[in-house]
Amino acid sequence: MTKESQYITVNGTAVKSPVFLASMAGITDAAYVKERADSVGGAFIGGYSIDDATRSASKEMEACGRAEFDASLEDIKAELESLRDTGLALGVNLRGTTAEAYLAAAECFGHDVICEIDAHCRQKPMTDRGAGEALLSDIPGLSDIVSALHAAGFCVSVKFRAGITDDAALARTLWKAGADILHVDLMDFGHAKLRQIRNTCPLIIIANNGVTSDEVMRDYFSHGADLVSVARKAAPPLLHYLSDYMARTAEEVGWYNAPKQVCRGGDFRGLTFCCPPMKQCALLPTLKAAGLGHEEYVVLKNTAVTGTPLAEGSSTCFGSLAYCCKTSTPCMFRDMSLAGCGLSKSEYMKQKRLLSEVIMKHIFEGR
Ligand SMILES: Cc1cc2nc3c(=O)[nH]c(=O)nc-3n(C[C@H](O)[C@H](O)[C@H](O)COP(=O)(O)O)c2cc1C
Ligand code: SF4
Ligand code: SF4
Repeated sequence: MTKESQYITVNGTAVKSPVFLASMAGITDAAYVKERADSVGGAFIGGYSIDDATRSASKEMEACGRAEFDASLEDIKAELESLRDTGLALGVNLRGTTAEAYLAAAECFGHDVICEIDAHCRQKPMTDRGAGEALLSDIPGLSDIVSALHAAGFCVSVKFRAGITDDAALARTLWKAGADILHVDLMDFGHAKLRQIRNTCPLIIIANNGVTSDEVMRDYFSHGADLVSVARKAAPPLLHYLSDYMARTAEEVGWYNAPKQVCRGGDFRGLTFCCPPMKQCALLPTLKAAGLGHEEYVVLKNTAVTGTPLAEGSSTCFGSLAYCCKTSTPCMFRDMSLAGCGLSKSEYMKQKRLLSEVIMKHIFEGR
């Protein structure tokens, strides 16, 4: 995973929007995605049931009136094939009970498809068979599925609801097992839960639930989301509005998912905007939580900005733009320094993003 596009590169695709379609069984197929392909950056089709146990669960759910897909692996492959020329990052949401079933499906679809493990479905026929949300009651079993897919070179996403288990422990375990993406239905937990997960692992995080306005979307992006996804309200006009909003943000701000400053509740990425540790403020507990010593933090920042425009800033509080605030905080001293070195505000934020990536890499390398 790299972050070279103005947004992010996911499984080799530099996405054209950080807004994705989330799966809805019986609804989100290729035709549904095609109707929305201009307004999103990626899509998870499905969920599809991929082994005898989950297929029989789907039949039971259908008999109770729930919409389900009835598709063989070849049928799903054909759906994915028909989306290849959309330029979207493509994923498929799968319900299964064994690593073997997931591997067989992933191998049929190919490496350019994100394989998403559905640990979300809470329909009783599915959980009775040990699939969907029941996977969260067997973390070693879930980790085995993730590890098997990872070892075979597939991009692995895990879709789950927050608050079912210890989310920080889950995120860490999935990261160590080889997951690439956590697709989190945040339910009513909001950004505090998202920040907790962001501060636990360096994986791509897709924030899901209730993304129906730019306010909700911005709240997710400023607390750790790399992408957001939409299911129930995924009407083309809303998707278009959200993607358009993000294009303008990326252009104007320079960092589409810039975190809040740490003293305003930002996640670890917000350390890129922090001062040196000189006073009692939110920086000190944040450094402790990140496992960074005071001196280590200063050396890390100073080293990372050496030779970059952020090393400038003699007229700023700490003599370096490395310690300067976000552009949303007005400051004439920072702006004078930016003007002096010919850096626009959006270029400054791009540099801050690069600095935050160095900080995050350092934090998680040691864990
Ligand atoms: C009809 C319906 C079917 C769904 N099917 C799936 C599924 O198969 N797999 C899955 O991971 N989530 C499924 N979901 C959950 C959604 O992907 C999403 O997590 C949830 O609806 C919250 O997002 P939203 O507020 O944007 O709708 C389904 C949701 C709905 C409404
Ligand atoms: S160091 Fe500065 S930006 Fe960071 S938490 Fe403290 S006051 Fe806020
Ligand atoms: S110079 Fe301005 S932007 Fe830089 S640290 Fe001081 S107050 Fe913040």
